[in-house]
Parts: sequence; C-alpha cells; structure tokens
Amino acid sequence: MSDEYIEEEEFSGAFEGRVFRRILTLIAPYKMWVVGFLLSVVVVSILDAYFTYLSKQIIDQGIVPGNRSALVSILLQYGGLIVVQCVAVFGFIYLTAVLGERVRYDLRQSMFNHLQALSLNYYSRTPVGWIMARVNSDSDRVSEMVSWGIVDSTWGVMNIGTSLIFMFAINWRLALIVLAIIPILLVVAVFFQRRILREYRQVRKFNSKITGAYNENITGVRVVKALGREPENMREFDGLTGSMYRSAYRAAWLSALFLPSVQMISALALGTVVYVGGLQATVGGMTIGGIQAFVAYVTSMMWPIQDLARVFAELQLSIASAERIFSLLDAVPSVQDQPNSVDPGEIRGDIEFDHVSFGYEDGQSVLKDFSLKVKQGETIALVGPTGGGKSTIVNLVCRFYEPVSGTIRIDGRDYRELSMHAIQSRIGMVLQTPHLFSGSIRENIRYGRLNATDEEVERAAKLVGADTFIRTFSKGYDEEVGEGGSLLSVGQKQLISLARAILSNPQIFIMDEATSSVDTLTESLIQQGMETLMQGRTSFVIAHRLSTIKRADRILVIENGTIAEMGTHAELLRKRGKYYQLYTKQFRSQMEQAFNPFSNPAAQQA
Ligand SMILES: Nc1ncnc2c1ncn2[C@@H]1O[C@H](COP(=O)(O)OP(=O)(O)OP(=O)(O)O)[C@@H](O)[C@H]1O
Ligand SMILES: [Mg+2]
Repeated sequence: MSDEYIEEEEFSGAFEGRVFRRILTLIAPYKMWVVGFLLSVVVVSILDAYFTYLSKQIIDQGIVPGNRSALVSILLQYGGLIVVQCVAVFGFIYLTAVLGERVRYDLRQSMFNHLQALSLNYYSRTPVGWIMARVNSDSDRVSEMVSWGIVDSTWGVMNIGTSLIFMFAINWRLALIVLAIIPILLVVAVFFQRRILREYRQVRKFNSKITGAYNENITGVRVVKALGREPENMREFDGLTGSMYRSAYRAAWLSALFLPSVQMISALALGTVVYVGGLQATVGGMTIGGIQAFVAYVTSMMWPIQDLARVFAELQLSIASAERIFSLLDAVPSVQDQPNSVDPGEIRGDIEFDHVSFGYEDGQSVLKDFSLKVKQGETIALVGPTGGGKSTIVNLVCRFYEPVSGTIRIDGRDYRELSMHAIQSRIGMVLQTPHLFSGSIRENIRYGRLNATDEEVERAAKLVGADTFIRTFSKGYDEEVGEGGSLLSVGQKQLISLARAILSNPQIFIMDEATSSVDTLTESLIQQGMETLMQGRTSFVIAHRLSTIKRADRILVIENGTIAEMGTHAELLRKRGKYYQLYTKQFRSQMEQAFNPFSNPAAQQA
C-alpha cells in the first residue's frame, strides 16, 4: 500500500531550486560541521594526489639514480603527511556521519511534532503508509544526501581536480588526453547509475505490493476461501512476482555491465597514456616515474567518477523526497488554537450547539442547522440510523473539527476562544473500537493522567469495575496488552479505556458504545463503569444498549444530520414516532432478553 506513495512523482521538478535551497536550511545550524568536514575532504584529496606524485619522485629521484638520502627524505615527508591525512580522514567520516544522524533526527522530530498538531481530517485524507514512508525512507534519503552526498561529490570533484593539476604539472600533453576522457566516463557512469536506480525503484515498488498481497491474503484467508478466489489470487500474485523478477533481472544485468564498461574506457585512456608517454620517454620527454604516476592517477580516477555519477543520479530522488517531507511539514492543521485563546482553568460542562452546520468536505452537508443545549451533568443518548451524524456531533464537541457555520459554546463561551488543550484535556472519551497502546495495563490506564500514582490507577480501575479481571492476570496491572491491545478482548479493552477516562477526571464524557456483543458479565461491568463515569459529568453516549438509553436524561434521534426526535424514553415511546419504531425493531429483543430468564443465555447457564 505504502509504495504507491513513496514512488509517486506527483511533485514535479518544477520547484527544484526552491526545494534545494530549503534542503540547505536543514544543515544551516551545523554550518561549522560542514565547513569542518569539507576542509578535511579537501586535505584528504590533495594529499591523495600528492602521494601519487611523491611515488613518482621516489622512482625518479631515489630509485633510478640510486640516491639514498633523497629516498629517505621523501619517505620521511610521506610519513609525516600520512599522519595528517589519517586525522583528516577520521575528521570527515566522523563529522559526516554525525551530521547525517543529526539531520535525520531533526527531520523526524519536526515531522512527529507536526503530525501531533495536524487535525483529524489530514489523517482521513492521508494513508498511514504514505506518512510512514516520509518518516522512514524519505528522511533517510535526505539526510544521506546532505551528509554523504555532499562529501562524495566534494571528494569526487577535488580528487579529479587535484589529480589533473598534478598531471598537468608532470606532462600537459598527456594530461589533455586524460581531460578529454573524463566527460565520456562521467556520461557513461551517469547513464548506468540512472538506469540501475530506476530498476531498483521498480523492485522496491513491486516488493511492497507483494508484501501487501501476502498481508491481504493471509488476513483475509477466510473470505478468499469462502469465495473460491484462490486461482485468481495466484494469477495476480504471479503477475507481481514476475514483474519484480524482470526488474531485478535488468538491475542485475546493468550493474554487472557497469563496471566493465567504465573499466574499458579507462583502459583505453590508460593504453593511450602509456603509448604516448612511452614514445615520449624514449626521446627523453617523460620519466618512468611520470608514466607510473599517470597510470596511478587514471586508475584511481574511476572511483570518484562513479561516486559523482551516483550522487548525481540520487540527487533528483532526494529532492523529490525532501519535497514530500516539506509537503507534510507545510500541511496546515484545519483546527488550530486562535491567537489569544485562553485556558479558563475550570470547565463546568454546559454545551450549546447554536445553528451549527458542518461537512467534512467542501460542499458536503452532514449536520444541518443543528441546535442543542446541554446542561452540566446531563446525559444525552444519541441514537439513529447509520450515517446519520452521531459520531460527527461528538467529533465537533471534542473540536476534532470545527463548525462550518454556527457556534458551539462551552459554559456559554464560543469554544474557539478556548485553547484546544483546555477543551480536550477536560474531555474523557471512549471510542467504539477502544485503542490501547503497547505496554502494560497500568501504563495504558495512566495515559489518562501521566502523574497518577499506582494507587490512583488502581482506584480508577476499581471504580469502573476493571480491577477484578485485571487481577486474574498473572502479572496483574503489569500484564502486557500487546500491540493495539491485541492480547485482550474487546470488553476488557473497553473497561481499561473507561478506567483511563475516569483517571483523567473529565468534566465531559463521551462514549461511542461498541455494538459488538460481549459476555453478559462484562456487559454489566461496562454498564456500571459507565454509570460511575457519567455521574455529575456532561455526557454524550452514542448508545446501542437499551439500559444506557433508558437512563439518559434525553434521547436524541439523529437522522440526516438533524434531530428527528428528542425526549426521555417514556416520552418518546408515548409519541409512537421514529424512536418507537427504532425501539420496537432494534431494542425489543434486547429488552425481552433482559427480562426473560429463558431467552438469556447467561441466565440459562447459571
Ligand atoms: N472523515 C470523513 N470524511 C468525509 N465524510 C465523512 C467522514 N466521516 C463521516 N463522514 C460522513 O458523514 C456522515 C455522518 O457520519 P457519522 O460518522 O457521523 O455517522 P454515524 O451516525 O456516527 O453512523 P454510525 O452509526 O454508522 O456510526 C456520513 O454520511 C459519512 O459518510
Ligand atoms: Mg458513528
């Protein structure tokens, strides 16, 4: 799933200059480090070229004329400089690696912070896989580019440059031949690197599709089997693996061809150099050490040329990566604190919807001119057909979204004047599919209020009736819940979420009741837990349980984003309207179960 988004090229290269300048701002705080490693790289490459020159001197001034003192003095010079080079090598490897990590850290940190601030509508528009790709592969690619990319290209240019300078100093005619060969080598290398990179990107794309296919077919195995879709699935899968194989094959073929091609061209250059140099040597225009130095320069030039080609090929990818990261960082939260927003300290919990209209997207109308006044401590049950707008109402109370028109007031004050934190920290919410974080039960309950003591955590669990089942675990409160709470049942997760909510002592309590059936004992535990929580707090419950609905101060039947009916259970039944119909269709069986011991499975077992 994710790779559609990793590799998409929806950000064209049109703004590359702007993006490139912005990439540079990432390393701006570390200017001194960059200066440090660039200096080190310069020192290393100058010395590299100089060492080759020294080896020429050793042959021409030491070995050939048999001059022992010259030999020793050149070797001493060599020895001294090698120490300098070692220090410089240490310097640039260390500084580059640390800078890369630093930039990766900064990028991830700012993405994480920004993701925390973004509103829910960003998450409903943007697949998780896309976001994860930004956080992982894109931040890796950008940090690599600003660290090793800079080093490799500097090293490449310096190495070729200094080698050329020494070559011109030794013999300018031969140096001209080498200079002519370099662009050819570069073009060939860039061509290969680009093609290879493209094939590898294809491989990665197919690879993640294959992972996705495995995932879907394993998790959905029952549906696949029930519908007899195995042959089609196998055909599809075969198509995917086949395409991946072909890309991988092409990448392997190109990689294998790349080095020999570059080698062939260098060999041609070498051959020419040796031939022309040899001819000159016979007439005294060139020393043996000189020819040897040329051979060494040309041979060692292959590596920087490859590096340059690779960096060049990757540059475009990194810019695309950076552009996607910046698009995430630039996404503006649709719901934000307004300037001068306040935290009043206390919130009582009076809530008013004043002619509120809302849609998730432009032009969409989910709530229409919705008005409602809820007094502190009141319990409102929301019922009605699916898609009617019940969850939307509580989303607005939590200020996950804000009204398109109209006003929501908390304690008589437009809630946009309050800070998000002021509102959301006073709301306790239990979702339809409660989410637990991996960690222990204790940690999950404490998430409601981070500074709660162990005693407070346990008291909260006792209050909602979760304590008993928690103690049946061998590690009790320290039992691990697994990723997303996968080691617990739905009912248990709900109870822990209730404990978490009560621990934060919210003034407003919101619950999207689970429709999934839990056993009767857990059911009544959850019921009691909810009642404890609702006492004295303004509560909105999207209710499926008859018992919750009956206890509510007011029941709202929500249909097409408006209040179709409102009143208590008894009032609405008398009216014989929509609620009556709902009740007779949906709740009568529950009702009968509750009052007829013979239709209640738990009672039968007892
Ligand atoms: N994130 C979203 N983006 C766009 N439209 C949405 C979004 N969430 C909900 N809707 C739409 O808003 C309408 C109301 O949805 P809502 O979730 O409030 O219904 P509901 O009454 O809670 O239904 P259910 O009982 O099935 O939970 C639906 O038509 C739905 O398609
Ligand atoms: Mg809903």
